Amino acid sequence: MKARDACLVAIALILRGASATDLVEPTSKDNSDQCQCYLASGPDPGYFQYHRFWDFRSIPLEEGNTFIEAPELVTDYESEDAKDITSAYFGTTAWQNDWSFLSGPAKTSSSVTNAYSPQNVYISRNTTDDAQGSTYLTLRASRADDFMSTAQITSNQQNLLYASLRTRMRVIPNGLSQSSAPSAGDRPVSNPDTGSSASHPVDEGAVVGFFTYHSDTQESDIEILTGDATDQIRYSNQPDYNAKTDSMVPGASSQLTLPGGKRYTEWIEHRLDWYEGTIRWWADGELVLNKTTNTPTEPSGLIMNLWGDGGFWSGNMSVGGQVLVGVEWVEVVFNVSGGNPEEWSLERRDEDVCKVGCRIDEVKAVGFPEVEYDSGSAAMVAHLAHWLLISTTLSIILS
Ligand SMILES: *[C@@H]1O[C@H](CO)[C@@H](O)[C@H](O)[C@H]1NC(C)=O
Ligand SMILES: *[C@@H]1O[C@H](CO)[C@@H](O)[C@H](O)[C@H]1NC(C)=O
Ligand SMILES: *[C@@H]1O[C@H](CO)[C@@H](O)[C@H](O)[C@H]1NC(C)=O
Ligand SMILES: *[C@@H]1O[C@H](CO)[C@@H](O)[C@H](O)[C@H]1NC(C)=O
Repeated sequence: MKARDACLVAIALILRGASATDLVEPTSKDNSDQCQCYLASGPDPGYFQYHRFWDFRSIPLEEGNTFIEAPELVTDYESEDAKDITSAYFGTTAWQNDWSFLSGPAKTSSSVTNAYSPQNVYISRNTTDDAQGSTYLTLRASRADDFMSTAQITSNQQNLLYASLRTRMRVIPNGLSQSSAPSAGDRPVSNPDTGSSASHPVDEGAVVGFFTYHSDTQESDIEILTGDATDQIRYSNQPDYNAKTDSMVPGASSQLTLPGGKRYTEWIEHRLDWYEGTIRWWADGELVLNKTTNTPTEPSGLIMNLWGDGGFWSGNMSVGGQVLVGVEWVEVVFNVSGGNPEEWSLERRDEDVCKVGCRIDEVKAVGFPEVEYDSGSAAMVAHLAHWLLISTTLSIILS
């Protein structure tokens, strides 16, 4: 994984210049005017102070842009076109406050240059009748003659310290009909030249990443390798490789089969919980893996990307190959390290205790937290009674 680490070092250098702010205004995007903190499901107690939800399913159509055509493939990564955003949506403050694009080549020693471009991030529309015109964010990677054109978005918030992150995404299989995934429509399901076949309808040689990132030794990953069988997923804490001994770090990375017979070409809610000392990975609400080795301890940002560099980890995409990733939404609850600037001292965030706690799982609509307890209400009494019952039962069992 040497090439991969070098790649991430390069990314870090580019990012440092790109991220203007360490902190962003923390309120106003929680889709609820009641919640003071957020509870994630699972074995871990405690709550998070902040919530974010980016929903790409109903981006309004723009004048002259119906989000049916994909932007031109990038054939020259130094051209100005390769630096342009593809939709007015990416010019809105809602987007720009929170996310930045990575642009330009990552400097690595890998055999194929990995060059990021905002032109590979765009809004697509599902025009099948059932989908009712819903939209999704697309990340694209394609292999030109002498480089890989790839995509990355990075959160501007760089001081997350413990978080639960989720996204509903899929690698879009080759051969989906023109109307359900226009930009993938022309790709043959089977193409021995790019490694795709009926049982593996995706081109090999790209990596989908959704991860926390501080440095190449402070990072926790969800990754899909498009060279893997479509029921496989990779979960790792970095570093997972020891350059001195040229060997994998025991317990740092895992390759697993997705639960429930799922395939990464289907829409799946991928989730990573980062707690002090423990990372937990989930797929569609099922807890798949816990890991304590190399759990990050430093304040971090979030990255979603799709890349490849011809190296050992990503594989080597054939010229003409292409991979598309669809993203319906991203949701994150988190705490930050460091104090908040003065202007943020809104009353509801200054509470020492969280009086109204909202759950983000098992809600009617994803992204819309629901009150789990309100310490000023009867519901709180019920909540406490519930826990009292459990602990009483436990102590009876234990005694
Ligand atoms: C988040 O911050 C609050 C307030 O400091 C703290 O009570 C809570 O335990 C933190 N949550 C996690 C998961 O660390
Ligand atoms: C578009 O929607 C249809 C109907 O829900 C679904 O079958 C198809 O897989 C969707 N396309 C994508 C790219 O998700
Ligand atoms: C992960 O840890 C939790 C809490 O200790 C436990 O209930 C669960 O069975 C573990 N899951 C796996 C897949 O190891
Ligand atoms: C990847 O393919 C390119 C040609 O397309 C070749 O030059 C390079 O050596 C290959 N790299 C690996 C690691 O096989």
